[in-house]
Amino acid sequence: MSEVKKPVFQPNPQFAATARIKNMDEYLALQKMAEEDYEGFWDKFAKEKIDWIKPYTQVLDESDTPFCKWFVNGKLNVTHQCIDRHLATRKDKAAIIFEGDRGDKQTITYLELSHSVNKFANLLKNDFGVKKGDRVVIYMPMIPEAAYAMLACARIGAIHSIVFGGFSSEALKDRIEDADAKVVITADGAFRKGKPYMLKSVVDEALSQKSPVQKVLVVQRNNEEITWIAGRDYSYNELIKNQSNECEAEVMDSEDPLFLLYTSGSTGKPKGVQHNTAGYILWAQMTMEWVFDVKENDIYWCTADIGWITGHTYIVYGPLAMGATTVMFEGVPTYPDAGRPWKMVEEYKINQFYTAPTAIRVLHKTGENEPAKYDLSSLKVLGTVGEPIDPPAWKWYYEAVGGSKCAIVDTYWQTETGGHIISPLPGATPMKPGCATFPLPGIMGEILDPQTGQKVGLGESGYMCITRPWPAMIRGVWGDPQRFVKAYFGDIKKEGKAVYFTGDGAHYDEDGYITITGRTDDVINVSGHRLGTAEVEAACAKHPNVAEVAVVGKPHALKGEGIFAYIMMKDEVPFGEEIEMAKEINKVIIQEIGNFATCDDIVFVPGLPKTRSGKIMRRILRSIAKGEAITQDISTLEDPSIVATIEAKVKG
Ligand code: PRX
Repeated sequence: MSEVKKPVFQPNPQFAATARIKNMDEYLALQKMAEEDYEGFWDKFAKEKIDWIKPYTQVLDESDTPFCKWFVNGKLNVTHQCIDRHLATRKDKAAIIFEGDRGDKQTITYLELSHSVNKFANLLKNDFGVKKGDRVVIYMPMIPEAAYAMLACARIGAIHSIVFGGFSSEALKDRIEDADAKVVITADGAFRKGKPYMLKSVVDEALSQKSPVQKVLVVQRNNEEITWIAGRDYSYNELIKNQSNECEAEVMDSEDPLFLLYTSGSTGKPKGVQHNTAGYILWAQMTMEWVFDVKENDIYWCTADIGWITGHTYIVYGPLAMGATTVMFEGVPTYPDAGRPWKMVEEYKINQFYTAPTAIRVLHKTGENEPAKYDLSSLKVLGTVGEPIDPPAWKWYYEAVGGSKCAIVDTYWQTETGGHIISPLPGATPMKPGCATFPLPGIMGEILDPQTGQKVGLGESGYMCITRPWPAMIRGVWGDPQRFVKAYFGDIKKEGKAVYFTGDGAHYDEDGYITITGRTDDVINVSGHRLGTAEVEAACAKHPNVAEVAVVGKPHALKGEGIFAYIMMKDEVPFGEEIEMAKEINKVIIQEIGNFATCDDIVFVPGLPKTRSGKIMRRILRSIAKGEAITQDISTLEDPSIVATIEAKVKG
């Protein structure tokens, strides 16, 4: 395959001179070190980076692969790594800078963070009886108390499971039940686009039937009227007043679980991805240092929500582990206008800015000339995450936002990988728009041929795999070890050994650069939010008149992918009532999953293209949604004529 050579953008020599990894030779030397002595490589960094309570006795135990153990018998506490160890030198340094949707501001120093987390931890332990290993669900807006809640759990060894605030009560209920959580931490509400919205009522609904939850802690953020259930609901603002600033950190084993985070797969219900203590925090810190190259006085801002893995690793754990200042923002980037992020960059003198391609596309479309109105000269590194970034968005980001002088780090990773796995290094990697470039040192990332398990050649496509365990990898699917093995180690074998398959397709270009081409399974990526088509189908099917449904992804100019549903109703939708019916179905999706999962297109069809054994041919439906000609053989379908009928409906 010969491709047109993409332009290459060299790292800015001014920043590269002081970067942690300064050039490709240094990168290659680190990679070589990992290849030649894998355990030695991780041993060096684990010793150098982590403040151990008790050292580990073995770097990696692969005896029960794919269930691996890292830093065996080591003892530590993540909050010691993220807070206590900084107090000697950074107690007055800003740990978190918070900006609310309506412009309210708060700076929290490391000492203040320590006090807030310890008080919160005492509250959970003493007033709520939370113990090591208990699951605590956090359903919170983007306010500092959300970070305190996560760290308070980590302080006492409880396992947090954050549910993104955009999820519905049904989705929240499922996650609470699967994790068997005994406590929910929430807020009365928060602010979005200048207006208050409510969260507590969603929790009330989620807990309205039998639930494992015994206590609910409510942070009063917007002070709207809410329902309080006596004996279950408690005010954080009241209880926190009586707590002590001191709380001894629980001694955690390297492999004690730190958190669960539910994510979508191609089949079934979302799975609780489990991350454990030592490996996760080590890689969160190492990638923060290498990929964002944050310096002692830098101000770093990641715009993600803490409800997703990016918020976990790159708003809270990573920045705090390295002692950085992390900006936390409650609002949306386009409110009050599309200059909001750039105004904040100017005001806080942000040095590293990390966001999703969807946000870049929206900011480009709605405020192309906004960056020029602000002083963005503080910026050094611009990051993207969550979906492939298209070259036009990359170019605007690089030129208009970064002034053609910043590194663009197109970070490829997943909930399961814990931290970045493929990314340019800001001081070293010559960049190509749309390319995640190369695996980070220590990550054995390879594009394999799914049939042979061999690495594909330059210019070839295959499946993105990781051929050795790495410290921050998923440790399990909560409550379902078999699903863990099947979902990640079932598909591809290299030299007879099952390897981790990401679910993404990828290819090497002629220079060996990696481009991620997207999911090969039934997972869709809507505005960087990961959804299983099966989940959306199950939600649609809750509508009483839906007989059958098939959902596929369709390219979308702003969201990356949009959701396209083909629905067969029990009773035909009368002519002229399709739009109303589509709205009704989207309402059901909002109830079952949340607003962000609504369908962009709903087409009512008299049947679905099925094989004679009853399997829905999604590839055909994907082609129809994209308006592509059907090239597949349809003669073996149960009813080949249905294809033309559906095509006509879609065109109509
Ligand atoms: O398809 C890949 C895409 O997002 C998926 C992971 O989604 P999630 O677990 O929600 O985590 C998102 C934040 C890390 C991947 O399987 N993805 C993520 N980053 C990129 C990407 N696709 C292309 N380029 C990226 N930089």
